[in-house]
Amino acid sequence: MTNWQELEHKYFMHTFDRIPVTLVRGEGARVWDEDGREYLDFVGGWGVNSLGHCHPVVVDAVTEQAHKLIQTSNQFYTIPQIRLAELLIQNSCLDKVFFGNSGVEANEGAVKLARRYGKHYLNGAYQVITTMGSFHGRTLAMVAASGQSKFQQPYLPLPAGFINVEYNNTEAIKAATTTETCAVMLEPLQGEGGVNLPDDDYLTAVRAWCDQMGILLILDEIQTGIGRTGTLFAYEQYGIEPDIMTLAKGLASGIPIGAILAKDRASVFTPGEHGSTFGGNPLACAAGYATLKFIIDNDIAGNAKEVGQYLIAGLKHMRSKFPFITEVRGRGLLVALEFNSDIAQSLVMACLDRGLLVNRVKPNALRFMPPLIIGSDEVDEALDILDKALSSIVS
Ligand SMILES: Cc1ncc(COP(=O)(O)O)c(C=O)c1O
Repeated sequence: MTNWQELEHKYFMHTFDRIPVTLVRGEGARVWDEDGREYLDFVGGWGVNSLGHCHPVVVDAVTEQAHKLIQTSNQFYTIPQIRLAELLIQNSCLDKVFFGNSGVEANEGAVKLARRYGKHYLNGAYQVITTMGSFHGRTLAMVAASGQSKFQQPYLPLPAGFINVEYNNTEAIKAATTTETCAVMLEPLQGEGGVNLPDDDYLTAVRAWCDQMGILLILDEIQTGIGRTGTLFAYEQYGIEPDIMTLAKGLASGIPIGAILAKDRASVFTPGEHGSTFGGNPLACAAGYATLKFIIDNDIAGNAKEVGQYLIAGLKHMRSKFPFITEVRGRGLLVALEFNSDIAQSLVMACLDRGLLVNRVKPNALRFMPPLIIGSDEVDEALDILDKALSSIVS
């Protein structure tokens, strides 16, 4: 039998410390490894598999589209792209869209758009204020935007134009704003940073400041969007609207796609100023349309809210049994469990042994991002495994 993991070590750059499991199949919230072992998947492709693995509406849309037209250049009109754009605009507060292939690419484009806005309307202002603990992706500029030194240090010097300030602190944003500032860029809830929730009035205060200063508010909803936090977009829960929003991850339930959405007044690209070879190709957009339509028609965000509350309640209940749990936090199906010591990796492995996939978001915290279609039965199963894994750690 081929030893795939040995081959990976031979051929791959060592950028991932992988978990020693080779996954070959998925269905719903479950995946199977090459030995036929089944796992309940609460990692969900890092918050990507919104409809679970190989959902029939996605498989059908991709199969049908693959038989018709997979890729053209963006010189031409293609129907899936326009249908997805229309659905996104009709169901968000934004007016225009641009499609790319990933989250980081969407964020790069959003910052380019903000800089164009700065050139047009703000005397060439180009700086973007972002927050510490944020994660906006892995290109050099987005590493500079992401306020986490572990991602920045290996690549110094970084592109100029990003100021990282404390999260959840409007005064810090105010203090960092100068005549060179064109935008503030935030995740409504910080995902990779550990599922950090904003104070109730933070986003409204930042929105008000951006309005006062005439600068743009970019919301990175790559992780929080498409129903993940219990509404189609997280901004809806905070009573604000962004000028620019980025999406990726869950938008096509596993097929690579990214999107920049903007209000009309911020939609200032002119022909040739931005582009993509693969972005918005018919295959990805057909998957995106099928995913988004299903999520909207079946109120999958509502399910994420309900099941997320059930998950959070179950995790909170565990605190009485395991006092080393220090916090349970999250919205919808983006949830973290924090401990008073660095046991997250041991727990990931203890859960894996018992058939549950979970993510170590910090040395002392786990993150749960299951498919948005799960029900309370799957949560019960996950909680049961987690309980056993936690017991194994303390004994
Ligand atoms: C909030 C946020 N922005 C951007 C990214 C980068 O997305 P991608 O890995 O698709 O480039 C991520 C990925 O985790 C993310 O969580």
